[in-house]
Amino acid sequence: MIEVGKTNSALQILSLLLVFLIHCQASTHYNWVVKGATYTRLCSTKKILTVNGKFPGPVLQAHKGDTIYVNVHNKGSHNITIHCFCNFVARHGVKQPRNPWSDGPEHITQCPIQPGDQFKQTIIFSNEEGTIWWHAHNDWARATVHGSIFVYPKRGASYPFPKPHEQVQIILGQWWRRDVREVLEEFIRTGGAPNVSDAHTINGQPGDLYPCSKSETFKLLVDQNKTYLLLIVNAAMNTIFFYSIANHNLTVVGVDGSYTKPVTTDYMTISQTIDAVSITNQQVGQYYMAARAYSSTLLIPFDNTTTTAIVEYKKIGNNFTPFSSTPPLPHLPYYNDTNAAFTFYDNLKSLANEHHPIDVPIKITNRLDPLNYNLIDPPLRNTVAVPISGWAAIRFHANNQGVWFLHCHLEHHLTWGMNTVFIVKDGKNKKERLLPPPPRMPTC
Ligand SMILES: *[C@@H]1O[C@H](CO)[C@@H](O)[C@H](O)[C@H]1NC(C)=O
Ligand SMILES: *[C@@H]1O[C@H](CO)[C@@H](O)[C@H](O)[C@H]1NC(C)=O
Ligand SMILES: *[C@@H]1O[C@H](CO)[C@@H](O)[C@H](O)[C@H]1NC(C)=O
Ligand SMILES: *[C@@H]1O[C@H](CO)[C@@H](O)[C@H](O)[C@H]1NC(C)=O
Ligand SMILES: *[C@@H]1O[C@H](CO)[C@@H](O)[C@H](O)[C@H]1NC(C)=O
Ligand SMILES: *[C@@H]1O[C@H](CO)[C@@H](O)[C@H](O)[C@H]1NC(C)=O
Repeated sequence: MIEVGKTNSALQILSLLLVFLIHCQASTHYNWVVKGATYTRLCSTKKILTVNGKFPGPVLQAHKGDTIYVNVHNKGSHNITIHCFCNFVARHGVKQPRNPWSDGPEHITQCPIQPGDQFKQTIIFSNEEGTIWWHAHNDWARATVHGSIFVYPKRGASYPFPKPHEQVQIILGQWWRRDVREVLEEFIRTGGAPNVSDAHTINGQPGDLYPCSKSETFKLLVDQNKTYLLLIVNAAMNTIFFYSIANHNLTVVGVDGSYTKPVTTDYMTISQTIDAVSITNQQVGQYYMAARAYSSTLLIPFDNTTTTAIVEYKKIGNNFTPFSSTPPLPHLPYYNDTNAAFTFYDNLKSLANEHHPIDVPIKITNRLDPLNYNLIDPPLRNTVAVPISGWAAIRFHANNQGVWFLHCHLEHHLTWGMNTVFIVKDGKNKKERLLPPPPRMPTC
């Protein structure tokens, strides 16, 4: 199995990924209805699974340290679980201290929510700040059942960077013309690799470079000389993206729900979530933002198409001159540019200051090798990208009691079995014991 993974895959990620303007309004109770909805993309129409009929799904908003409740009603015709979200060090999303009950992996921490049933999930935020996300955690439902989670600073606290003029959600995704269940079933039946997707999407839209898509391309209207905080999620099933905006820099301020030292760049490698600031310091006009796959080898099939959206400056005064018909496209690293992908990752450093300390374990009980690591300000990640023949060292305190699913976040690798479970046992004192399960867990 591992051999198959190695030869067929560009990358393995361990899960330890519309522009809408966001109003900073956190609520504590959410009602979600999982149901089918009809969507048309790439000149064809199909029924997809959604939350509340939306693709991408609804946003969850909270302040650092909040607890929220999401009541998930399954009105679809298939089992579902929602990953709001694990785990461990190496949390993929929310750490959920001592509360694996709402983590979501099907048949790992819970039975699925069967059609007609419901489950109220408790999401306990602890140290996460910035953008994370939620998604279905069974079969391939997450292709369309996913959305962002924005965790704002504690009430009364401010961002560790100048307050942006506006916040904008950007969700990168993948679209198959066929029903994703058919793609999954065929993939399992043949034992090969799944068919590659037909499009990548930004806020649910493929963009100008695909058929039947231009009229619905996502457009972000901006004012000149303002600062925009982009809250970016890579919700794709099996792709890491290169992302860039023509003529605009991006300053990364957070990654995987943890703020970082600011780094200014003209492209980003997005494996899960990134918070980045962009300043609209260009002439009034239109500029493409674009994303396409990073694949560490070209020898395996992957979706090599490019998704776009438009950043459009609001016109000033009585300027009625139409925009030129072809906005500039940004330069993106070539698909197999592993150097570009990892230069970006290597530049990320955590804040590691008084207000945003980073708890790097210094004393190691079991040292596996003698290499030198950054123990001062490494970024806190919930996923680690590992290129073909590469490796990663993960250092963590096993201090979150529960059962935690550690897995490759490229969905087909999960099917191939690239996953395991960590069990962190109860400690001696009361704060080191599992919380009790919620009253009504789904049953099998
Ligand atoms: C997968 O791709 C093959 C080759 O293009 C095609 O024949 C098949 O119908 C596709 N299957 C699905 C489920 O998309
Ligand atoms: C933005 O800044 C430029 C350069 O300072 C200036 O020429 C322009 O008028 C400013 N635009 C607005 C809308 O303030
Ligand atoms: C982008 O950043 C570089 C390096 O900091 C700077 O030289 C350049 O002027 C910036 N470009 C824009 C469009 O802000
Ligand atoms: C994308 O892949 C197809 C084959 O799957 C190939 O024909 C095409 O040239 C590739 N396009 C780019 C831009 O690399
Ligand atoms: C990327 O692919 C191109 C075209 O096949 C090849 O020339 C180049 O050596 C590859 N680069 C890397 C880093 O593998
Ligand atoms: C749905 O979940 C139940 C309980 O785990 C299981 O018995 C049933 O086989 C599942 N149905 C499908 C279609 O997977």
